[in-house]
Amino acid sequence: MADFISHSEEETIAWAEAYAKSLRPGDVVLLEGEMGAGKTALTKGIARGLGIREEVTSPTYAYMNSYGDKLFHYDCYRISSEAQAESLGLCDYFDAGGVCVIEWSENIRGLLPAGCKKITLVKTGEKERVIRI
Ligand SMILES: Nc1ncnc2c1ncn2[C@@H]1O[C@H](COP(=O)(O)OP(=O)(O)OP(=O)(O)O)[C@@H](O)[C@H]1O
Ligand SMILES: [Mg+2]
Repeated sequence: MADFISHSEEETIAWAEAYAKSLRPGDVVLLEGEMGAGKTALTKGIARGLGIREEVTSPTYAYMNSYGDKLFHYDCYRISSEAQAESLGLCDYFDAGGVCVIEWSENIRGLLPAGCKKITLVKTGEKERVIRI
C-alpha cells in the first residue's frame, strides 16, 4: 500500500480512525517510530475508530492502559527485560479479545505473538510524518 503523508496530528488521527476499521479482535499492532513520531497520536485515532470515547493518554508509566476490553495500549519504552514484562502480566492481554497496540515493542520482541501487524511512522518534518503499513 502507498505511503500516507500526514501534515498534522489531526491528519494522523483521521488516518488511524479509518485504519481501525480493518482491525479485528485479537489483532496486535506494533507501532514503529522514534520518540515524538506520533505513535500515541495514532493510537488516539485507532481508539476513535473502535468507538472508544475515553481520552487516550500515553501509558508511559503504567506500561499499558486498557479501554474496556476493546483496546490495550502498551508503551514498553521503560520495560527493561522480557522477564519483567512477563511478571507484570503484560502478555495476558494479547488474547483477551481486544486490539493490542504496542509502542516500543522491540523491548518485548521475544514475547510477541505470531502475525502482528506493523505501522511505521517516519518523522520527515516538524509536522510531516510518513505513515507506512
Ligand atoms: N503529522 C503529525 N502526526 C502526529 N503527531 C504530530 C504530527 N505533527 C506534529 N505532531 C506532534 O508530534 C508529537 C507526537 O507525539 P506522540 O506522543 O504521539 O509521539 P510518540 O511516537 O508516541 O512518542 P513516544 O515514543 O515518546 O511515546 C505531538 O506533540 C504531536 O502534536
Ligand atoms: Mg507514545
